[in-house]
Amino acid sequence: MPLLLGVNIDHIATLRQARYAQAYESTNAEPSPVDAGHDALAGRADSLTIHVRGDRRHMQENDAFRIRAEIPLPLNFEMGVTEEMLAIALKLKPDFACLVPETRMEITTEGGLDVAAGFDKIRMAVARLQDAGIKVSLFIDPDLKQIESARETGAEMIELHTGCFANATGDAVETELQRLINAAHAGHASALQVNAGHGINYTNIKIILKIPHLAELNIGHSIVARAMRVGMTTAVREMKELITLYPA
Ligand code: PXP
Repeated sequence: MPLLLGVNIDHIATLRQARYAQAYESTNAEPSPVDAGHDALAGRADSLTIHVRGDRRHMQENDAFRIRAEIPLPLNFEMGVTEEMLAIALKLKPDFACLVPETRMEITTEGGLDVAAGFDKIRMAVARLQDAGIKVSLFIDPDLKQIESARETGAEMIELHTGCFANATGDAVETELQRLINAAHAGHASALQVNAGHGINYTNIKIILKIPHLAELNIGHSIVARAMRVGMTTAVREMKELITLYPA
């Protein structure tokens, strides 16, 4: 199976909200996440990822429903494990849901879910989403205990948090890569689909491709940043070209 690219377009909404937080539905509110989704499709994205956060700092519910209705790509809905988000997900019916930790003050998702600590709540959320036909992924640190707990929830997929790897310098790069490689082996051995994301860019992707058993990468910030120079379609196409180097 070729490695797939999920494009996270939250930052398109971040830019719009910087000016149109109160009037995001007005006709002059720009840029449009729906347009960005169409452009990502033209660049051969395999799926779109969006995160409606509890504080609505970027994507709004309305964006999620429009993207779902208008863009013919599989949709991955990132969500905190709350009743509010479960209700939205069950109505939205994305193809996939990725459960993430969410804290109010963080700039972006800062670490993986502690599945072991929140096991009962997470297992219940996984079951409710799956009952609605939504495949579930758990965003976790590359930690063997978390992988074992993720398997026990019944989730089909894990997304390995690559943020520590992306922030590492010097010898820590190899250490963090090795953690990801070990976690990918463990996830695969547990029959979980192994995805990865956070902080992946056009440079570190070459190292990320050393991780075995990967099915999909979720990349947002770097693609949106590159899009400011070359446009969204080209930015996505360039990343797709890099990930086709992944050994089959
Ligand atoms: N995966 C998850 C679970 C995330 O929370 C994010 C950030 O929203 C990403 C992937 C994408 O990370 P980045 O924007 O750093 O590429």
